[in-house]
Amino acid sequence: MKDLTPPRSSLDSIEIASRDEISALQLERLKWSLRHAYENVAFYRSSFDAAGVHPEDLHTLSDLAKFPFTVKTDLRDNYPFGMFAVPRDQVKRIHASSGTTGQPTVVGYTQTDLDNWGQLVARSLRAAGMTQGDMLHNAYGYGLFTGGLGIHLGADALGLSTIPISGGMTQRQVRLIEDFKPKGITVTPSYALSILDEFAIQGLDPRDCSLEVGIFGAEPWTNAMRHQIEQSFNMHAVDIYGLSEIMGPGVSMECVESKDGLHIWEDHFYPEIINPQTGEVVAEGEQGELVFTSLTKEAFPIIRYRTRDLTRLLAGTARTMRRMEKVTGRSDDMIILRGVNVFPTQIEEQLMKIPALAPHFQIELSRPDRMDQMRIVTEAADPSVSEEDRANAAKQLSAAIKQTIGISAKVDTGAVGAVPRSEGKAVRILDKRPKT
Ligand code: DLL
Repeated sequence: MKDLTPPRSSLDSIEIASRDEISALQLERLKWSLRHAYENVAFYRSSFDAAGVHPEDLHTLSDLAKFPFTVKTDLRDNYPFGMFAVPRDQVKRIHASSGTTGQPTVVGYTQTDLDNWGQLVARSLRAAGMTQGDMLHNAYGYGLFTGGLGIHLGADALGLSTIPISGGMTQRQVRLIEDFKPKGITVTPSYALSILDEFAIQGLDPRDCSLEVGIFGAEPWTNAMRHQIEQSFNMHAVDIYGLSEIMGPGVSMECVESKDGLHIWEDHFYPEIINPQTGEVVAEGEQGELVFTSLTKEAFPIIRYRTRDLTRLLAGTARTMRRMEKVTGRSDDMIILRGVNVFPTQIEEQLMKIPALAPHFQIELSRPDRMDQMRIVTEAADPSVSEEDRANAAKQLSAAIKQTIGISAKVDTGAVGAVPRSEGKAVRILDKRPKT
């Protein structure tokens, strides 16, 4: 793999500023953001008033802990535009969640917000080793989802040649990679695996393709998966994180030279980690739920938003800004099976160790006799894996899960293609338990 480390001279000066400089900028911006939210959004005025706090009460960064949290239902309750802090005609772009689990959540951006978003995604793409004039194959979905258009903004800001292919039509994805020879690909890790399969179907060796870096996010993925993707494509694989409520992709980014967690772009977002049960801020370096406050957003300021993503904060390495560890999962995706907490990423980690199994999987939860049961659907790595080998691989995975996670799960290993493929975010859990 080529060394893609960006020259230090190409970085924004704030990426490598001193901690004191970063904190001073954060404090100044945080004061503005709290005032902006309080003065322009009825929801924040009433939630601050109810908690007995006022923007003037913030004197240091840690004073933020006195302010109330914002949660997803607050956004839903203010559907569609109740959380906007500027007149509607100043909102230049609207994105929204798909709304499959209820009322969609709607977010908005002014022109300045879009410019900042573009700059932060450009910074992220540069951290991945992309530079002006490089070609990018952008396979995140375009539309209300922030992935496609968010990456596109940053690619334009960095001066890339962008292929806005979006998700789906996998045969064509491979064809265009072969014909156009992009240097980078932006895609969910699960859809990258489908593209990888398609290379094999077309009899092509992905190691011979032009790709030098893949920028993967929008869903959790493990270091074991990174290793597999890097080997299969002979390219770097780096992690990009974000969520629509905070901005979209580019809230934090892993640097290609260190691949040791994601640097949070702290000049625009202030991170905290809380204990999800008590809501208290935990000690530096402890695991918990990630909470973000926007520092510069005009249309949709967001104060202490509970992301439900579980991670921890670490000191900076390749940049001075702090890192977040790869996200283990969302608290919503945590399965509690007979008292044991399980995340799909833990299953992924075990699965990746078994060569006879493909990296695709789905977890089915059922309750046949008042006891929750987990069935993991996997598939053979390739058509040459015999039925007997499949049965052995299933047993092996079940035993590894028992040993490392401590739960009994039934594993079924089907032929190639047994697990439904994603074209965006993978659906990892099928919950067939009766709703109580
Ligand atoms: O997924 C934004 C995005 C697009 C990020 C493209 C990266 C690349 P939402 O659809 O609002 O936004 O979903 C946000 O996805 O709270 C996490 O649970 C999860 N997520 C996003 N990035 C990562 C990641 C986009 N790198 C939710 N690792 C977040 C783990 C991620 N989970």
